[in-house]
Amino acid sequence: MSSQNIYILGIESSCDDTAASVIHNGKILSNVVANQKIHTEYGGVVPELASRAHQQNIVPVVHQALEKARISKEQLSAVAFTRGPGLMGSLLVGTSFAKSFAYGLNIPLIDVNHMQAHILAHFIDEEGFDKPPFPFLAMTISGGHTQIVKVTDYFDMEVIGETIDDAVGEAYDKSGKILGLGYPAGPEIDKRAQSGDPKAFSFTKPKVDGLDFSFSGFKTAVLYFIQKQVKENPNFIEENLNDICASIQYTIIGILMDKLKLASKQTVIKHIAIGGGVSANSGIRKALKSGEQKFGWTTYIPKFEFTTDNAAMIAIVGYLKYLEEDFSEFDVTASARLKI
Ligand code: KG4
Ligand code: ZN
Repeated sequence: MSSQNIYILGIESSCDDTAASVIHNGKILSNVVANQKIHTEYGGVVPELASRAHQQNIVPVVHQALEKARISKEQLSAVAFTRGPGLMGSLLVGTSFAKSFAYGLNIPLIDVNHMQAHILAHFIDEEGFDKPPFPFLAMTISGGHTQIVKVTDYFDMEVIGETIDDAVGEAYDKSGKILGLGYPAGPEIDKRAQSGDPKAFSFTKPKVDGLDFSFSGFKTAVLYFIQKQVKENPNFIEENLNDICASIQYTIIGILMDKLKLASKQTVIKHIAIGGGVSANSGIRKALKSGEQKFGWTTYIPKFEFTTDNAAMIAIVGYLKYLEEDFSEFDVTASARLKI
């Protein structure tokens, strides 16, 4: 794309991960993430604690990202940061840091939409990973998001379906909490599901029109089911944990796949990409792959470290915007509800 040496520092702080990454042209040189363990004991992200942890982490994380990339800050071409959506207190830490860093170095500042970044992570140069051709459909699934987006060009995106309540990751985590599993519960439910019977128990799928999702009713269905069973047999959870996990996973994947199939049919687009923490799920990966045979899809799943919240995806968007000289004013503000 360019013979210039463009170095972008990307900063991500929208939720509970403080992350920084350096990208050289399209290639990632470093990708540092500091996870905030503090939330585990509360069973979910506590916004106040998140922003405090970001304040503690941001300087060492950026320092490490530059060190691992083996460049000095003076070599940077621009600083890209997550403007939103996310938790306001968390976003403010990254936004103010990015502004002062770019200002001090006298280089451009680039604001990035976190949801666009999850999708554009597919354009990071990475051996063995193909980039989706336009137009493609992207399904972003994580603890904070559940969207289906029609992507016509890098910055020409349309949300054609999204959750009207909980995100899919929350459905995993809240179901896990009911079962007494730790937070986040998604990975453990996934692991146990692989040795359970997916048809052991059935949970009704929510009826939501069109391409939108709903997961709050599902969580309630799991709660009532478990309460009823435990009343009859206090050891119900322990005796059936793998089967319960498999049945939960089966229902959730069914919900996601139904909407994805409908989206592909309606838009006549067969290139399908996923992103977000839940795309690590073994069941969704299998279901997607089977879509290649069944529906003639070509599917794209990014490298794991680029699916969960990370700054490499912010840096790649920064690079793409840098090429278009799409820079931000220094009075840009964080936006908790920023839309695609
Ligand atoms: O993208 P992410 O790291 O953070 C945001 O929420 O933005 O996603 C975390 C979510 C959690 O809800 C976690 O339970 C879920 O992704 N998750 C999984 C798996 N790995 C992570 N859910 C299902 N199966 C997995 N293997
Ligand atoms: Zn995210």
